[in-house]
Amino acid sequence: MKKLLELISEEMGAAFEKAGYDKDLGKVNISNRPDLCEYQCNGAMAGAKRFGKAPIMIANDVAAALGGSKTFSEVNAVAPGFLNLKIADEFLLNYVKEMAADKYFGLNRTGEGESIVVDYGGPNVAKPLHVGHLRSAVIGESVKRIQRYMGYKVVGDIHSGDWGLQMGLVINEIKNRMPDLPYFDDNFTGEYPEGAPVTVHDLEEIYPTASAKSKEDEAYKAKAMEATKKLQDGVRGYRALWERLIAISNADMKKIYDSLNVHFDLWNGESSAHDRIPAMVKYLKDGGYAYISDGALVVDVKKDTDTKEMPPCMILKSDGASLYNTTDLATIQQRVEDFKPSRIIYLTDKRQELYFEQVFRCAKKTKLCPEDTDLFHIGFGTVNGKDGKPYKTRSGGVPKLQDLIEEITEEMLRKIKENNESKGYNATEEEAKKTADIVGIAAIKYGDLSNQPAKDYVFDVDRFTSFEGDTGPYILYTIVRIKSILTRYAENGGKADKANLNGVYGDAEKDLMKAVTAFHATLEAAAAECAPNKICAFIYDLANAFNHFYHETQILSETDETKKAGLIAMLVLVKEILETCIDLLGFEAPDRM
Ligand code: ARG
Repeated sequence: MKKLLELISEEMGAAFEKAGYDKDLGKVNISNRPDLCEYQCNGAMAGAKRFGKAPIMIANDVAAALGGSKTFSEVNAVAPGFLNLKIADEFLLNYVKEMAADKYFGLNRTGEGESIVVDYGGPNVAKPLHVGHLRSAVIGESVKRIQRYMGYKVVGDIHSGDWGLQMGLVINEIKNRMPDLPYFDDNFTGEYPEGAPVTVHDLEEIYPTASAKSKEDEAYKAKAMEATKKLQDGVRGYRALWERLIAISNADMKKIYDSLNVHFDLWNGESSAHDRIPAMVKYLKDGGYAYISDGALVVDVKKDTDTKEMPPCMILKSDGASLYNTTDLATIQQRVEDFKPSRIIYLTDKRQELYFEQVFRCAKKTKLCPEDTDLFHIGFGTVNGKDGKPYKTRSGGVPKLQDLIEEITEEMLRKIKENNESKGYNATEEEAKKTADIVGIAAIKYGDLSNQPAKDYVFDVDRFTSFEGDTGPYILYTIVRIKSILTRYAENGGKADKANLNGVYGDAEKDLMKAVTAFHATLEAAAAECAPNKICAFIYDLANAFNHFYHETQILSETDETKKAGLIAMLVLVKEILETCIDLLGFEAPDRM
């Protein structure tokens, strides 16, 4: 259905036309002076010059043309030429009823028939997930869900760092420590053992050790590079060992991602595109796109209009090895073939901005990617501590993702117990823990998603876990409150149904309905800009409007049963919209808290 503002702007535009002015002047906005009016139109001001008339005269003409309007209950032309508007109850009610009747609340699902790939998560095998990977996973999961809700067929791909020197370093270090493993025996022809020779826990020590050694010791580094090459060339033992390392690493990551309610459709990695590289390199050479510079194969991606430095995109290093760029380009080619996406969305730290600009330009210039495929990088900011510096654990280290989750859920458990106690609710320890896990994830995710992705934010455990203010727990608390009213209504024999909407009972309910109508514009913008923060802002407004309504309105004690059914219908609708939105953000509400 049409957005509410669109609909009333059309009505306004028609009135401008009827009064002898231009339709385009009828644009209506939400009032920034809610004490004076609900909506306003400044078209008469804009039209003054065009029509050589005082704005107030135009406004008066338009107000007169709106006489008898069923859309507005009040139209006031005020000096110097504003049109202050109030929407008619009946019109608003019908609009909200139409929303309630549709599975998607009347959203135009403009993505139907098109595909999108979301590349997020991006963990590196053998390195523990850190706080930066939290953002990629949390924002990416939400972006994926939002696009899917818009009707797109969406494929979420983890694109892990499972290739290149980091793997060579690990394999070489394992070889140094356990030279007798069959993987390193060139003459071994049997079946390799099933499990990995090391644990994930070992890997977390092996990688940093190897990485540090390679920085000090040239010969060591050369060995690691040789191992990388052998792996990429497909040496049987190296591939087998690598597969086993990937398997344990993925299993471990899956556990953490599951606990965050983050789920990937594809578990591909940088390695997945490896086999396409030789043909792609040939294509780039034959097409005259790539040339040798200082021994390396590169593609120029500079444009005349560039104001900043734009180095060429490197395709192969001078030793012939492929690199991060190479796998990313080959992966674009693969995704274009597999999904014909209208968009490929990438989530990484914003320090990779220039890198993606190079890769995207290269992909377009070389026609590995069609011109009309939107390659879209979301570069996110840093997670800081209260001191404004990158967040550290309580013991001062770089925080692993797991530490952050634990820190939040611990505090959440404390607050849940405190809240239970103050309400005289005797929850078992197990129940309280379960609730704290659910609410804790919401606290982390909302704390992140309520910021614009590109902005840095402060990881503030105390604020994120608060039941008040712009937080995840506050939103959940609102949902739980609605659920409990609905439960009591049902216990008294009531049948809650959003189809029962039958009136606008007071200003607070009208405000709540108006808040609901922002749904469509919010989702469209959140999807187009990949901005989950817009959904957070919307549900925060909606939750505030609901809580105000709740305090102003007798609901269960209402004696007029028809009115009560209408109020309850509004509760059902608000609950469903809030639940839909938190699902798009990637978390859920408990039954009580
Ligand atoms: N593994 C990378 C990192 O940790 C992120 C991968 C992002 N995706 C991509 N297609 N390059 O920085």
